[in-house]
Amino acid sequence: MRQKPKPRWLTMPPPIISTIRSVRFGTALAGERVLDVCSGSGGSALPAAVRVGADGTVVAADLAGRLIDLARTKAEDLRLTNIAFRVDDMLALGYPYRSFDALATKD
Ligand SMILES: C[S@@+](CC[C@H](N)C(=O)[O-])C[C@H]1O[C@@H](n2cnc3c(N)ncnc32)[C@H](O)[C@@H]1O
Repeated sequence: MRQKPKPRWLTMPPPIISTIRSVRFGTALAGERVLDVCSGSGGSALPAAVRVGADGTVVAADLAGRLIDLARTKAEDLRLTNIAFRVDDMLALGYPYRSFDALATKD
């Protein structure tokens, strides 16, 4: 007998971001954990790291290693220590459920 396909929402992974807040729209707060996918050279990840401050964290992920290297250099120049960089596909980051509070988006 042919299996009925599962509804799409049943097959999707659980979200890694608990509540969508946006750095761009000013709703990310000091101390929050921010994810920036497709971060490029850090146009939104770096302002996000400034915004969340020393108690917050930012993960900047992009497929392009050259752009991630550039973003890392900019972060070092700005003396930001609360930001981590990943050369990775945003569709396969592998973080557990609710690892982040906010998304960074381009200003
Ligand atoms: C317009 S740029 C992003 C600019 C960046 N948000 C900023 O504020 O400077 C788009 C980026 O998406 C990245 N990208 C495209 N597909 C991706 C994927 N599946 N996972 C991670 N990064 C991806 C590209 O490498 C590129 O750096």
